[in-house]
Amino acid sequence: MGIHYDEGSQVFHLQTPGSSYCIQIIRDGYVGHIYWGRRIAVYRNSIPFDFIDRGFSPNPDPADRKFSLDNLPQEYPGYGNGDFGVPAFQVSQPNGSEICDLRYRAYRIYAGKPKLPGLPTTYIEQESEADTLEIELQDTLTGLRATLIYTVFNEHDAIVRSVRFDHTGSENLLLTRALSASIDFRDDQYDMLTFYGAHTNERNIARRPLMPGIQSAESRRGASSPQQNPFLALLRPGTDEDNGEVFALNLVYSGNFIAQAEVQQYRTTRVSIGINPFGFSWQLTPGESFQTPETVMVYSAQGLGGMSRVFNRLYRTRLCRGKFRDAERPVLINNWEATYFDFNADTIEAIAREGKELGMELFVLDDGWFGKRDNDLSSLGDWTVDQRKLPEGLDNLARRITGMGMQFGLWFEPEMVSPDSDLYRRHPEWCLHMADRPRTVGRNQLVLDLSRCDVCDYIVGAISDILSSAPITYVKWDMNRHLTEIGSALLPAERQRETGHRYILGLYKVMDELTSAFPDVLFESCSSGGGRYDAGMLYYMPQTWASDNTDAISRLKIQYGNSMVYPAVSMGAHVSSVPNHQVNRVTPLDTRGHVAMSGNFGYELDLTKLSPEEKLTVKHQIALYKEIRPLIQFGEFYRILSPFEGNETAWAFVSADQNEAVLAFFRVLSQPGERVPVLKCKGLNPDYVYRHYETGQVYGGDELMYAGLTLPRIKGDYISLFWRFSRVAE
Ligand code: DGJ
Repeated sequence: MGIHYDEGSQVFHLQTPGSSYCIQIIRDGYVGHIYWGRRIAVYRNSIPFDFIDRGFSPNPDPADRKFSLDNLPQEYPGYGNGDFGVPAFQVSQPNGSEICDLRYRAYRIYAGKPKLPGLPTTYIEQESEADTLEIELQDTLTGLRATLIYTVFNEHDAIVRSVRFDHTGSENLLLTRALSASIDFRDDQYDMLTFYGAHTNERNIARRPLMPGIQSAESRRGASSPQQNPFLALLRPGTDEDNGEVFALNLVYSGNFIAQAEVQQYRTTRVSIGINPFGFSWQLTPGESFQTPETVMVYSAQGLGGMSRVFNRLYRTRLCRGKFRDAERPVLINNWEATYFDFNADTIEAIAREGKELGMELFVLDDGWFGKRDNDLSSLGDWTVDQRKLPEGLDNLARRITGMGMQFGLWFEPEMVSPDSDLYRRHPEWCLHMADRPRTVGRNQLVLDLSRCDVCDYIVGAISDILSSAPITYVKWDMNRHLTEIGSALLPAERQRETGHRYILGLYKVMDELTSAFPDVLFESCSSGGGRYDAGMLYYMPQTWASDNTDAISRLKIQYGNSMVYPAVSMGAHVSSVPNHQVNRVTPLDTRGHVAMSGNFGYELDLTKLSPEEKLTVKHQIALYKEIRPLIQFGEFYRILSPFEGNETAWAFVSADQNEAVLAFFRVLSQPGERVPVLKCKGLNPDYVYRHYETGQVYGGDELMYAGLTLPRIKGDYISLFWRFSRVAE
């Protein structure tokens, strides 16, 4: 059992294999946060709450000037009775009050993990994999109850948290903030790590020392976004890839979020994460409930690498679902950068045939196959095949491709509608909008109002019809703009601020229905690349197109940044043509291959235009990838050299049994007067002996990791090495 309760001290002690998390009920039912960090066997009150009479700190008990919520570390702080920090929740009442005083009522500890209705979560397969603690709090005046739900995984160093609000009172309440987790750290000696970026420039890493006041990462775009990601970690200064403490939080959610750290007056730090209160509120009528999304909390004493391996493994095995979770993913060829909108059945068939010859396993027909879509000006929403381009229909094309022994996949952008579409002409009220306001387009399209059941049903019906009409075994689910005029024609004024979250709930429902109805279809999510690359989407769709930027050098950073949280198997990575369509860079085919092979591998170029030599290289790349695919897709990932810190990047994949490894090295620019490069591998077994495939040499794991391996001197820019090691009997 990973959860212990001591009746005498009223301490709850949550334990994963490497971490401890302690909570204490004190005084009149306040829920204090004691500790989160390296595992301790038994907590015996070594860091009791230190009550001091402090200036400006109000006292709920007039007889005790020392006790104040202003400086009590808490589990789920509210507002109005002495805590002036960022509240975890806020609730407006009919009398205009925002004061709420949640106090402890009861607890439950049980084996297993609850499902959160309508929301994606990590999960378990056996009850014995996890234990759950629920702490029930209540505000007597309003009747609002909040149940803090903590689940501890027994084989992952992760604790997940969420909160359920139940309204047991008699008057309507308005939740204006309902975060998923809040943690009060006892000091402020941390760096904060978040991600930032833009379209084609996703998942850059920002690390800065905490400063007094609030610092945050957030999205107000209606999607988790490429600009930020629902993730925040505190790191002890000096923490690096392999050493030092990391406290990381990742929200399993795909919409507006906030992740923030507030350094407070006495140099303590409050970290919180959840749905962004900006633009959000939720009406709770008597008897109603509201469930927050889940937060995954990972503590690592082995630096960022240790943190990433916990996230990667947990998400690969207990977030992603379905028959593809453990299945090797197909090498694909996508026609987007090959043809854009300009194709017909014959050009598609020619690319697919070439792909088949070279060893590819799946052909993906991208945007432009439906309605009358010759550009991005029309047809989203009209999910019927464009007879001009495919006069013999989709089924015919799919069969021409499956007949070659390849799988057939199809692109959709189900959440959108073009103003120039039959759907919009029929249902102009079906998009997000506010009456009398102009509707702002993005990429010439509007966003369907997925808070509406009729809209969700339409999407499920339209996509199901197409999926049932042809042998389609893969779907690329795109989403190419953010939300504006976030309002719904069906919601009353007092519920308009629910639209953003209802949109996400509608999206989850649609994805749930479609992925359940088509369990043999592999779904890949995409939002102009990695614009909605988050744990919420991975629950439904086990892979994501990582970026519209296919340039190998840009991809080093994008893939390195993504690897912090998301597993390599979830990261769509394609070889494209040069000069690259996004940045115009010319990189060697080998390097493009090695970067893309470091993820979920595919190609996105006109294969019919490759030279015979290029085709041979591609053939070899695919053959190599197929051999190492289990290692890349299901092995452990080790970052060695960061593209954010220098001219060289390196990483390694190591099999769970440490018998196999791939070491990848990339150098961006050739430099005069370079040192002889020596690369130290990671993750090998120091006691094993490995054979280096490419040279046949044999080295000890200790030698490869501690002394390193001298790299050959290769001249030129944008070079790469991709080396394999296999354990040999001594
Ligand atoms: C954005 C995606 O990221 C691209 O790969 C491609 O599918 C286009 N949309 C198609 O419109």
